[in-house]
Amino acid sequence: MHIMKGMLQRGLILGISALALVVVNTAVADEGTLARGGKLYDKWFKVIKAPKPTDTHRPWPKANTKKKGNATHRCKSCHGWDYMGKDGAYASGSYKTGIPGVRKFDGGDPAGVVAVMKDKTHGYSGKMADADMTAIAMFVTKGQVDMDKFIDRKSKKASGNVSKGKDYFNTLCVNCHGADGKLPKDMPPLGKLSNKNPWEVMHKILNGQPGEGMPGLRALPLQVTADVNAYLQTLPKD
Ligand code: HEC
Ligand code: HEC
Repeated sequence: MHIMKGMLQRGLILGISALALVVVNTAVADEGTLARGGKLYDKWFKVIKAPKPTDTHRPWPKANTKKKGNATHRCKSCHGWDYMGKDGAYASGSYKTGIPGVRKFDGGDPAGVVAVMKDKTHGYSGKMADADMTAIAMFVTKGQVDMDKFIDRKSKKASGNVSKGKDYFNTLCVNCHGADGKLPKDMPPLGKLSNKNPWEVMHKILNGQPGEGMPGLRALPLQVTADVNAYLQTLPKD
């Protein structure tokens, strides 16, 4: 009787774990995968520890001589931190390319994005694993954010609650970045970055920093990242 019961229980446990496996396999759009995809979108070669590309990426327009080399291989360089390409922050400045954003693929089919990454223009086949391309595609289709809801395009002001942002910052970020946002020493102060490029900062808060121990906060409500961004804009700029 006891043995029977044990076998039944084991059978049940096996059944449940098989079910859990199926669930895990289909739920690829978990926040961890999306954050990894976001970091790959930012700087894939840093995330996968591949050598830095040295050539200038084929689709980079000849007319833009301000950037060359590895920067031109990052998705963000052509499609933007706000995912809007020529229609967003990169409408002007050193990353002006005239290339469209990827907003159109929000809610779209990840396979379509993988196909674009493998096309002649992009040529990412063989440069990273298929699983990495899938993570980027999941990010583009299920993880990108309409930043205009959280950042005023003209004034660059983050629409968040500064005092809540302060609490989040002083619990989540302070150990690595210091109370005034001036650590680590080898990066610009967070106050400066956040006022200059709030879209980049929002992307990093959501997804983390490639190759560093920094967490991605995308499992929290999006408003949290806007609150943090709003607080960062009050920190010293130099
Ligand atoms: C050097 C510039 C450059 C880089 C880097 C780049 N792309 Fe693109 N991307 C383009 C160009 C140019 C187009 C438009 C191609 C066309 O018109 O056929 C495009 C189009 C796209 C589109 C289709 C957009 C649309 O509206 O049809 C997607 C999706 C896309 N890229 C994803 C990515 C991803 C993901 C990465 C990073 C792994 C990436 N791209 C890196 C230049 C770039
Ligand atoms: C475990 C440590 C750690 C935590 C926690 C952490 N970060 Fe970071 N963060 C880093 C490191 C390390 C870097 C890379 C620094 C460098 O490039 O020199 C970084 C980079 C950044 C950057 C990009 C800077 C750049 O120039 O590219 C931003 C923005 C940022 N962090 C914001 C935050 C915010 C906001 C929080 C809290 C929500 C946070 N970080 C939490 C370690 C951390």
